Amino acid sequence: MSVRIPYGRQTIDDSDLAAVAESLRSDWLTQGPKVEEFEKALAAYCGAKFAVAYSNGTTALQGAYHAAGFKDGDEFVTTPLTFAATATAGIWQGAKPVFADVDPATGNLDPVAAAKAITPRTRALCPVDFGGRPVDLDALRKLAKDKGLLLIEDACHALGTAYKGKKIGGIADMTIFSFHPVKSITTGEGGAVLTNDPALRDKLVSFRQHGIRRGEDWLYYVEEQATNCRLTDLQSALGLSQLKRLDSFVARRREIARRYQKAFAGWAEVENETVPVDDSAWHLYVLRLKGAAGSKRREVFQALRAAGIGVQVHYIPVYWHPFYEGLGYKKGACPKAEALYERIISLPMYPTLTNAQQDEVVEILRTVLDGLHANRAAR
Ligand SMILES: Cc1ncc(COP(=O)(O)O)c(C=O)c1O
Repeated sequence: MSVRIPYGRQTIDDSDLAAVAESLRSDWLTQGPKVEEFEKALAAYCGAKFAVAYSNGTTALQGAYHAAGFKDGDEFVTTPLTFAATATAGIWQGAKPVFADVDPATGNLDPVAAAKAITPRTRALCPVDFGGRPVDLDALRKLAKDKGLLLIEDACHALGTAYKGKKIGGIADMTIFSFHPVKSITTGEGGAVLTNDPALRDKLVSFRQHGIRRGEDWLYYVEEQATNCRLTDLQSALGLSQLKRLDSFVARRREIARRYQKAFAGWAEVENETVPVDDSAWHLYVLRLKGAAGSKRREVFQALRAAGIGVQVHYIPVYWHPFYEGLGYKKGACPKAEALYERIISLPMYPTLTNAQQDEVVEILRTVLDGLHANRAAR
């Protein structure tokens, strides 16, 4: 059966269409005034001094690692429970990702494990706000400060949420967002790096536009190896329009999370999260199977897919991928992340998911889980 209810999708309305149409009619499609307007609005929303827009979250990570000065032989400590881009973007800059284990309660990088992974070659801590829940920023900031490292937060899941009352985006040395359609807001493809440091900001700008410093008249100077990973004016117009509704998107995601948790309360096969709902931007709703159901993840996944529910799994531990195996990484390095991976499934979570659709997902899941019991009884 084709997917009737996906795990994530964009929310586009007439105001977005109007904003993009207006941009199309303007003089600028690429490097016009909307890019800066979007950057300023994003920085202001997050309480950061600067935002530098990028073509996507992956190039934004590359820009951040470049600005951090990553070079051959450097290391950075990161989490295995993420999309591979968090780690691979650093490899592009010549550095080596060192994976440290997660806190199973949140799926986020465990500061104690991160501390153990630091070596004299480490330049930065690069945690990920898994599913939209901020990492333990106080502990990681302290660790980074004590060890003289940069804290580079991959917050691609967490735009719109806060840590201890402060919006994500203005806390770490650099914070990365993605505006892919399933994220908190979208620009189609898109990303940004936020920072309070003017020197880092200059490096971020340089990296996305060929390392160019402008001179007088026609003169310009290519001062370093860099690339083109600019966001366009068109996309920035969409981003500005989306940003106005970000809070309502996050509020709806939280409502959906609350409804899932209420529905699953008392289910023997499901472990509800114990951390507060309002702490996360809920990019993902990660169902955690437990007990015997945990070892039946594939069956549950396949049955949900067969029923037209577009479930996914976030994430296969990064170092399990063939590219990383080829680099010499071995399974077993982060047992807590691996154990969590084995029993999780991402359920549909996006602002336009209706209560009726969500109820259907819950009902189908219940039937699937009952089917597991029935299968066991029949054997
Ligand atoms: C945690 C994380 N980091 C980075 C990225 C890369 O972002 P993009 O798809 O915009 O390149 C993603 C995208 O899925 C992500 O989930």
